[in-house]
Amino acid sequence: MLSYIFFLCVALVNAYSDPGACSGACWAHDPNVIQRESDGSFFRFSTGLGILISSASSIEGPWTDLGYALPNGSTVTVGNASNLWAPDVHYVDGTYYMYYASSALGSRDSAIGVASSTTLEYGSWTDHGEIGVTSNDADEYNTIDPNWITIGDASYLQFGSYWDGIFQVEMTDSLTASGDDYTNLAYNASGNHDIEAAFMFEYEDYYYLTFSSGTAQGYTTSLPAQGDEYRIVVCRSSTGTGDFVDKDGTACTNSGGTTVLASHDYVYGPGGQGVLDDPTYGLVVYYHYADKNIGLAVSEYQFGWNNLTWTDGWPVVA
Ligand SMILES: *[C@@H]1O[C@H](CO)[C@@H](O)[C@H](O)[C@H]1NC(C)=O
Ligand SMILES: *[C@@H]1O[C@H](CO)[C@@H](O)[C@H](O)[C@H]1NC(C)=O
Ligand SMILES: *[C@@H]1O[C@H](CO)[C@@H](O)[C@H](O)[C@H]1NC(C)=O
Ligand SMILES: *[C@@H]1O[C@H](CO)[C@@H](O)[C@H](O)[C@H]1NC(C)=O
Repeated sequence: MLSYIFFLCVALVNAYSDPGACSGACWAHDPNVIQRESDGSFFRFSTGLGILISSASSIEGPWTDLGYALPNGSTVTVGNASNLWAPDVHYVDGTYYMYYASSALGSRDSAIGVASSTTLEYGSWTDHGEIGVTSNDADEYNTIDPNWITIGDASYLQFGSYWDGIFQVEMTDSLTASGDDYTNLAYNASGNHDIEAAFMFEYEDYYYLTFSSGTAQGYTTSLPAQGDEYRIVVCRSSTGTGDFVDKDGTACTNSGGTTVLASHDYVYGPGGQGVLDDPTYGLVVYYHYADKNIGLAVSEYQFGWNNLTWTDGWPVVA
């Protein structure tokens, strides 16, 4: 009986479904997925050697790689403008805006920039450069991993990686941040403070702040201690502009965060996530992961997604 109960507990802890189907070009890294308004087709943006655009007729594929969004780099002068990261695309009044980061691994010499397009296609993107959110090695934040949301009549950008964690700044318009009044939304006081890749969405009465916690990459060089690899975490708030807590009520500015998806079976280090309202499956969480059957290098990461269900107002990957 005891061993049966033990088995049941282990089974519950590991009860994540396999990722949904993916066909065609399924490599992804820090993916951001948006459906095109005009025809419902899916566009995926990844951190490659620049921002790789892929498209498909459904989230399951077949995915086709189209090329880089800004093949000639960006006019941003901070970081490395020929190696842009962490795209975040949204639609406002006929135009798609893409925020991106310019930085170098482990450096806080970073800036967030923006480009726009009316079609999402390869060759359609116009760069507008920096939005006024930059950091350097004197700051306790890193201005990478942008993520846009509208709350009421205002727009905000979440950003941050390591150091003091995830921050939010209000936007004046799509191309410009309101200033350098940054609100801390999440901070992990432990270890090396390794949370990043914020993605916020609204559902019913709350704003949900997802982020990735743990070691993102380098798995082929040295495997993190079990549980220290990337995983997807969530906090929620009724305002979206502060007071985020996890399921236990712990403040997310005080190391809180409830796991949504972690390594399981052949899936290792899921993260770089986003949430999409899929026309067939409803809310899905999508992400990149290392498939243990394929390889653990960033160049081998796979695009994954799962249905989200809800338990007591918290998103669950069943
Ligand atoms: C998502 O849910 C649908 C039922 O709505 C099910 O058919 C499908 O297998 C689920 N997909 C995944 C990846 O779990
Ligand atoms: C990139 O630069 C090349 C060479 O100057 C030019 O032919 C091409 O049109 C540029 N591409 C974009 C998207 O600006
Ligand atoms: C900038 O990124 C490019 C593309 O990855 C790389 O070749 C180059 O070495 C980087 N430059 C610096 C200064 O890190
Ligand atoms: C915070 O960091 C510690 C130490 O790395 C880790 O054990 C814990 O899971 C992290 N919590 C969150 C919510 O990221």
